[in-house]
Amino acid sequence: MSNLFPIQTKVSKAEREQLLQQRAKLIWFTGLSGSGKSTLAVQLEAQLYARGFKTYLLDGDNIRTGLNKDLSFSDEGRVENIRRIGEVSKLLLDSGIVVLSAFISPFKADREQVKAIVGERNYIEVFVSTPLEICEQRDVKGLYKKARSGEVKNFTGIDSPYETPDAPDLVVKTNELNIDQSVELLLNYVEPRIII
Ligand code: ADX
Repeated sequence: MSNLFPIQTKVSKAEREQLLQQRAKLIWFTGLSGSGKSTLAVQLEAQLYARGFKTYLLDGDNIRTGLNKDLSFSDEGRVENIRRIGEVSKLLLDSGIVVLSAFISPFKADREQVKAIVGERNYIEVFVSTPLEICEQRDVKGLYKKARSGEVKNFTGIDSPYETPDAPDLVVKTNELNIDQSVELLLNYVEPRIII
């Protein structure tokens, strides 16, 4: 580490943001599997794109089949998963892009670490607050059933913990709002913060 000498680029983040006409922020969705993180992130990204923002979406199921395919769902695997995503987000933010990320990210300490990596003022935490019972009822991927039968181990909310955020920037109660209302709530919060 001490033998590394990071270079200084001639183009700054502020200049890239100026060129792209936006402020780069990380919109960090956290919540149980099946809570609706990906659905909301996909819809929000589409709305931002339609308004001319340059975005990129990082999603757990996608990243875990590529960049992070070497990681398990043990506590250590999840910690490393989120650490890497924090670093990738930092790079994308530095490039001036608005980043959306959808990972369970069950541990408070890891979410705090991401916030520290990207800088507090660049981090917007969205808690997709869907009760476990509803996620389990939906069971879109059939994983809760497998977790209950023991076929899938360390499943979040069943035999692996989820630490609820203390002070998220936004809470989306998907059992009270439909998708359009949820996206509108998100857009109203995010848009003024990324407009230059
Ligand atoms: S995280 O805990 O490390 O943040 P991540 O968001 O990347 O999780 O991946 C979660 C997705 O992986 C879930 O939506 C589900 O499709 C799948 N998955 C497979 N096994 C598990 C498990 N044991 N716990 C939670 N999700 C799992």
